Amino acid sequence: MIQRIRTGFSSIGLNAIKIVLVSVFLMIQSIVLPAAAAPDPYIAQYLKVQPDEIAEVVKNASGETKTFDYSRLVQGKTLFGQNCQSCHVGGATLSRPELPLSLTALQGATPPRDTIDSLVAYMRHPLGYDGEDDNYGCREIKEAWLNQDEVETIAAFVLRAAEKAAGWGTSDLF
Ligand code: HEC
Repeated sequence: MIQRIRTGFSSIGLNAIKIVLVSVFLMIQSIVLPAAAAPDPYIAQYLKVQPDEIAEVVKNASGETKTFDYSRLVQGKTLFGQNCQSCHVGGATLSRPELPLSLTALQGATPPRDTIDSLVAYMRHPLGYDGEDDNYGCREIKEAWLNQDEVETIAAFVLRAAEKAAGWGTSDLF
């Protein structure tokens, strides 16, 4: 009888030790390996670029392209969130819904704003839709505020979203 109880206790003890060891192992693993973060769902599902992939975006009117990897698009989303989203959530233009950041609207502007270079030129000096100097709504991004790399990163995010993301740049706000 005593024997049996002892065996019972010792097996409970062993299981407890195993549980402690496994949780210590998991704790150490979560400290050592925080880099294995889940992919950004917006970039992965809407922009259709996975963590190991790159996107080709049209750079200029001659059709040259420039590649942007997944982490740069994640950065583009963050920069867009910090600098543009308050007026352009989801690619819409809240105070001028007829001028969203959709590919059709960007292509229809004079000059078109559908390449990295032309979109960067627009961000540096926003003109009116017909190319006249009559834009009073959009924010001018000076070099001292965001450098060339950063505005190109935002442009890549916007153009990839305009090309791929369902619902991006709607004019239908109500
Ligand atoms: C304070 C609000 C505001 C902020 C912030 C802002 N915009 Fe704008 N944006 C506007 C308005 C308003 C227009 C329409 C301007 C016009 O009258 O032509 C516009 C127009 C645009 C257009 C032209 C759309 C088209 O269909 O041709 C682009 C491209 C654009 N913005 C990009 C950006 C980007 C990129 C950022 C962030 C770096 C940004 N905007 C930040 C308000 C804003």
